[in-house]
Amino acid sequence: MQSGEIRNRFLTFFKKREHAIIPSASLVPENDPSVLFTTAGMQPLVPYLLGEPHPAGKRLANVQKCVRTQDIDEVGDATHDTFFEMLGNWSLGDYFKEETIKWSYEFLTSKEEGLGLDPSRLYITVFGGNDSVKEADEESKKNWMSQGISERRIYTMEGETNWWSPGDNGPSGPDTEMFYDVTEKGLGDLTKEEFMRADEEQKVVEIWNDVFMEYEKKGGKVTGKLKNKNVDTGAGLERLAMVMQGKDNIFETDLFKPLMNAIEMRAMSNGARAKRILADHVRTAVFMIGDGVLPSNTDRGYILRRLIRRAVRYVDVLGMKEGALAALSDVVVETYAGVYKNLSSEKVHIGQTIADESAKFRQTLERGMREFEKISASGISGKEAFALFSTYGFPFELTLELAAEQNITVNKKEFEEELQKHQALSRAGAEKKFKGGLSGHGEMETKYHTATHLLHQALRLVLGEHVIQKGSNITPERLRFDFSHPEKLTDEEKKKVEDIVNEEIARALPVSYEELPIEEARARGAIGAFGDKYGEMVKVYTIGNEKTGVFSAEFCGGPHVKNTSELGHFKITKEEAVAQGIRRIKAVLG
Ligand code: GLY
Repeated sequence: MQSGEIRNRFLTFFKKREHAIIPSASLVPENDPSVLFTTAGMQPLVPYLLGEPHPAGKRLANVQKCVRTQDIDEVGDATHDTFFEMLGNWSLGDYFKEETIKWSYEFLTSKEEGLGLDPSRLYITVFGGNDSVKEADEESKKNWMSQGISERRIYTMEGETNWWSPGDNGPSGPDTEMFYDVTEKGLGDLTKEEFMRADEEQKVVEIWNDVFMEYEKKGGKVTGKLKNKNVDTGAGLERLAMVMQGKDNIFETDLFKPLMNAIEMRAMSNGARAKRILADHVRTAVFMIGDGVLPSNTDRGYILRRLIRRAVRYVDVLGMKEGALAALSDVVVETYAGVYKNLSSEKVHIGQTIADESAKFRQTLERGMREFEKISASGISGKEAFALFSTYGFPFELTLELAAEQNITVNKKEFEEELQKHQALSRAGAEKKFKGGLSGHGEMETKYHTATHLLHQALRLVLGEHVIQKGSNITPERLRFDFSHPEKLTDEEKKKVEDIVNEEIARALPVSYEELPIEEARARGAIGAFGDKYGEMVKVYTIGNEKTGVFSAEFCGGPHVKNTSELGHFKITKEEAVAQGIRRIKAVLG
């Protein structure tokens, strides 16, 4: 079964069971400064899992684009990738364990409606209790048994193994995980130890995870129960495609095949792992750029930069020609064009961004390699690794990889210390955010959200209606806003934009929102960059009202302040180019 059919069957299955199908949110999380990328289907749904009503109802399902880089060292094995698609269904205080498990089983095994997988190859794990929640999840076990799964194939896991949360903060709960035997002969009954070994050896592969989210975590600790008992499930499309297509790794599925073929055609030397890493990184870079990320030295942009630079190195390792990366990026766009329309419309921009970044890296790569050769004889100190990083643009893992190839040591600890001293090049900041999980919407972030809407509209008034949001990032200290505009802003234009924003703040305009069908929102002239996150119904935030006159109306998930008078004084601190035709403004509220 092809991956397109798996996506369709999943959505149709849950639609029939009264789930609203919501579109994939962007890989760039909105309103969430604590994570760099959307790492699970539940992430854009956190406010709803915490109790806010979702405009589409209590049962939701979708296919969500995700990026996870925590397991980047695993990429190249059978099942890990940094970009993946997650099939998910959610209950927001509606059904719970019984239906969830029944439907998971039905979808996996039904020939008519689901995937028709062999039930005798399924293994299940359930939660066995941990420090926060003592009781084992007997109920899930019973539910699996009533689907016909033998007790011998259900393993109870103590501790954190079957506990899922997106980080130290947010909704969380026990989970039950489904594994599939991918060996040729079939493994039959396994003891718990045998099962765990088979998992490690990738003979059984986790294909789906049902999380029963009824707890809330704060600062890494379970602090209590959520308002609702929710369900959050996630199944990796690449892994499902792998088992459906009888492959023992994801790189041979139809999702990767065209790309792997293109790499195979161009590669002059062998190296199965190098080819997989290259494929993974190009694919992830394409999706990131498609969602508005650009290479840079901080946060998301730096992760993208690392992926592209590492890909350039593997292009060389495999003896491919210099222009290969951009050509490979076209193959990815073509593979996914029917599913993610933004990729086809951004194809040229994606290819160009990858080509530009590769060229930039190549300028220093040669010099950097010479430097590396010079210093590497007696091991590499942290300071030297940092110089390679800051002067020659070598991501740290590149230095580590080169060193490992030549059996020389690198002083990691000293490198980390150097990095801490130079927070401006904040790979350290980026790494921390990866691990930090979700945080709430702070007061300052909320203010910056509203200021962003004022800025967006002010730019359109001063520069023209071609100004469209290309990206935004908010921290408690500042806002950053990327938009389309062909040239540098003059001082006069910047001043005008600031004055307009400050005037609207001084007018103390009320901020309110409405949920509207997307067509009506468009008809009313609401603007917004990232399209219809909520499917049919969208939230439109309006600044001003009939009495004061409407200054801005924009699609957005919120949150916002109630009145612009709460914002303080608005000031642009920086205006710069980030790419051809895209400008960036940083601004603060004082
Ligand atoms: N949110 C469920 C998972 O990522 O497995």
